[in-house]
Amino acid sequence: MNTSPSEPIDSNLTSGENKSFWTASTEPIIIEKLKENIKTDVLIVGGGISGLTTAYCLLKAGRQIVLVEDGYLGSGETGRTTAHITCALGDRYFELEKIFGKEKAMLAANSHTKAIQFIANTVKHENIDCNFKRVPGYLFLSGNDTKETLDKEYTATKNAGLLTEMLEQVPALASEEGKWAIKFPEQGQFHIMKYLKGLTEAIIGMGGKIYTETKAEEISREGAKANGFEIKAKHIVVATNTPVNDWVAMHTKQWAYRTYVIAAKIKKGTWPYALWWDTGDIDSQWIGASYHYVRLEELDDTNDLLISGGEDHRVGQADDENIPEEDRYIKLVEWTKKRFPVMENLEYKWSGQVVEPIDSMAFIGKNPGDENIYIITGHSGNGMTHGTLGGIILTDIITGKENPWIDLYSPSRITFNTAGDYLHEVGNMVAQYADWVTKGDVKDTNELKPGQGGIISSGLKKIAAYRDEENNLHTCSAVCPHLGAILQWNAEEKSFDCPAHGSRFTTEGKVINGPAITDLKKLEVKEEKSLQQSHSIEEELNKTI
Ligand SMILES: Cc1cc2nc3c(=O)[nH]c(=O)nc-3n(C[C@H](O)[C@H](O)[C@H](O)COP(=O)(O)OP(=O)(O)OC[C@H]3O[C@@H](n4cnc5c(N)ncnc54)[C@H](O)[C@@H]3O)c2cc1C
Ligand code: FES
Repeated sequence: MNTSPSEPIDSNLTSGENKSFWTASTEPIIIEKLKENIKTDVLIVGGGISGLTTAYCLLKAGRQIVLVEDGYLGSGETGRTTAHITCALGDRYFELEKIFGKEKAMLAANSHTKAIQFIANTVKHENIDCNFKRVPGYLFLSGNDTKETLDKEYTATKNAGLLTEMLEQVPALASEEGKWAIKFPEQGQFHIMKYLKGLTEAIIGMGGKIYTETKAEEISREGAKANGFEIKAKHIVVATNTPVNDWVAMHTKQWAYRTYVIAAKIKKGTWPYALWWDTGDIDSQWIGASYHYVRLEELDDTNDLLISGGEDHRVGQADDENIPEEDRYIKLVEWTKKRFPVMENLEYKWSGQVVEPIDSMAFIGKNPGDENIYIITGHSGNGMTHGTLGGIILTDIITGKENPWIDLYSPSRITFNTAGDYLHEVGNMVAQYADWVTKGDVKDTNELKPGQGGIISSGLKKIAAYRDEENNLHTCSAVCPHLGAILQWNAEEKSFDCPAHGSRFTTEGKVINGPAITDLKKLEVKEEKSLQQSHSIEEELNKTI
């Protein structure tokens, strides 16, 4: 498999230890660091699909932009996606109808269809070599769901004006014999990092300024600071997946989930290019019920790559279902092999973070209470289209152009019919603070072998401890700097994850996912030398056996 589990996270490159196929198969997109004070019309924070599309659209509309990215371009969740480009919404059109009414569900369908078209046009116009294809998508029943779900969704998609079809078979999936599927025609797929590279070249070609390894801090209505320099701007777009401007309280309107991906070779031509999704686990304890999502990507002359995802859980809460992170991959392989029996050995595995909004639609628009700060967040599993819509909608707001989708996506909207889900998620969030009085998962630092981490209780203190491959111990406070929940160790991505609102930190305490904006506090922990030495001797003995 193309992963190197002993390397710590290179947070400039990606937000987890396991590399995705996209980042592993392309060169990192590095521009230059900001090295001077600068003034611009629009400052964009974040170099994923949302930030780069916003930069592209604003430049096309004649605006001047500066984009700053903490790591390299695509180093956030965009580089860890599976890049289905679709108007089939994970949260279902019949739910949208219930929450927003038929007219707005129709607007939602229209916006996602236009976003797919925008990507197709941009690929063509900018001549981006990113394997973009129009493909059909198929929504089929999960093992424990009933046909009623498909019937309801089919009617709602028709109400929303989509050209869906009800099929009596799930195309290409023999294991689903006798099950029905909804076909969504003219969806899309691409190699996301190649698309970002094309967008980047177009942005630079139009005179846009992009700075990588440049973290925006102290974001305000005047601009931000980065690398010790001032960036002055008339408008500020925060496109950081989870907003990192610290006065924003979006963490009470959306929840962070981890989702898992495996990728295996498959002989070219044995399966058609298409997107498949099941309707999800209806018995799931999570409001954002986990569903499976599968597609193919071109790999080489003889093989395609089968990319399959799912097995989600709330960040930092994998153990609540007694399924630790590593077992999620095993479950995913089992599920995928049953449906795609010709898949070969695993080439890649990785996980990533999706942000689930309370009412199914992303939050795109003016930050509540601000006139010149804008956010793009809450993409759910539809970040390719929501991120693209972010660029289109914000450009129209900033340039004063009318846009029919502004109210639908407004971060200030109030929605009804979501109270049950809201209370469930808030209850879950509050429950996470109980970790203050429970024991850590590791008794003391001597239990940690090289490459292992964990949470240690020491009196009233909670310590996030990690022993690196050279046997050096790294210790930080395990108290999340956002709102004080206790972090959990994620052994698969080698990070400390917050179960309350999804912030994540590297083994050395550097923040890699918001809403936290600061790193973990370093703590000095003295190890008992003799124990430490005996641990090393034991390791040496093991090596010689
Ligand atoms: C495993 C997985 C599968 C998915 N599959 C799909 C799919 O098939 N289809 C789909 O539509 N969506 C999918 N999604 C969702 C989609 O990938 C994301 O919603 C989308 O990529 C988010 O894009 P973004 O640009 O908003 O955020 P990001 O890509 O996370 O970009 C935000 C950037 O901001 C940077 N940043 C943060 N703080 C600062 C700061 N202070 N200063 C400067 N920069 C900063 C980060 O480094 C990061 O690069 C998937 C997600 C995952 C994890
Ligand atoms: S992310 Fe809010 S307390 Fe940790």
